[in-house]
Amino acid sequence: MHPGRIETLRHLDQFVADNLSTLLRDPEVNWQPTDYTPDLSTESGFEALRSLREEARMLSEDVLTVLVGDMITEEALPTYASWISVLEGVQTKSHPETPWGQWNRAWCGEENRHGDLLNRWLYLSGRVNMREVEVTTQSLIHDGGDTQTENDPYRGFVYTSFQEIATRVSHLNVGRLARQAGAEGLYKICSKIAGDEQRHARAYKLFFQKFLELDTNEALLAFQDMMKKKITMPAMYMRERGKEKGESFARFEEIATRTGIYTSRDYIEILENLIGDWNIAHLQGLSPAAESAQQFLCGLPGRYMKILDRMAARTKKSDEEAGPNYRFSWILEQGNPFPLPAL
Ligand SMILES: [Fe+2]
Ligand SMILES: [Fe+2]
Repeated sequence: MHPGRIETLRHLDQFVADNLSTLLRDPEVNWQPTDYTPDLSTESGFEALRSLREEARMLSEDVLTVLVGDMITEEALPTYASWISVLEGVQTKSHPETPWGQWNRAWCGEENRHGDLLNRWLYLSGRVNMREVEVTTQSLIHDGGDTQTENDPYRGFVYTSFQEIATRVSHLNVGRLARQAGAEGLYKICSKIAGDEQRHARAYKLFFQKFLELDTNEALLAFQDMMKKKITMPAMYMRERGKEKGESFARFEEIATRTGIYTSRDYIEILENLIGDWNIAHLQGLSPAAESAQQFLCGLPGRYMKILDRMAARTKKSDEEAGPNYRFSWILEQGNPFPLPAL
């Protein structure tokens, strides 16, 4: 048990209930994967499929691999939803149905579209060994992850604030590289998903902002603890068939760095964003421990910047050792070789 958490969450029940409908979208008006993928019940759907496959041919193997990794990360949603549901105060015996629980389900419903959309696009692309991808997805859900948050909602929402921004960065950069390659449709898909991640990040940051207002010292200590342990990635245990837990994730991370889709610099920039938005430097009336957490946090981006080159060199070295010779089982060797016959 962590002190004060349940009281804080109960105090914010009404706030969350009041804001649910502005922070998240009504399913009946929200975008759906079908809006961005060919409708194969129509003849024009086959034309759309043809152009999807043309786009897919233009993507580099690196970008395609990161896209697959991002999709698998999204598809492991059951892990994230069940983790949030057991954070202290989200639901309790006396409060089995709280606005936090409603938030979790509604958020989960929105997130579920991300994996669905990317999965469908990749399936139709003809460049991916979907069965191997599915083995990885099932393995990842089977293995879970380690957010290092215990069941503390303060630590938990630092984690989600960070991760929603991180996934936004990744989707945006995949989209940018797709557009450069001429894959305009995929660019639109990635931008759409990134837009959701942005909205979710705003919501989680708002929740943590409220924790800071109501329980400043404890919230600051939780933030410090998360940053000392470093934010892990949700797909940290990703593995292909026959591989060790996390082995494929390490290769995936190297490609994300090599292509500039998600790098150590992004990690530092996200940290700076959180420190700035939560106004950490200007919090007052702190306990001695919280004051030292404040100093630690405010100095952390600068300290990371100093060792950025060293961090980049380390990733580059492991990439050179394993990367160039490494082939993901997800990617077909002569993928998408068959142009679709004319109608
Ligand atoms: Fe997502
Ligand atoms: Fe997300």
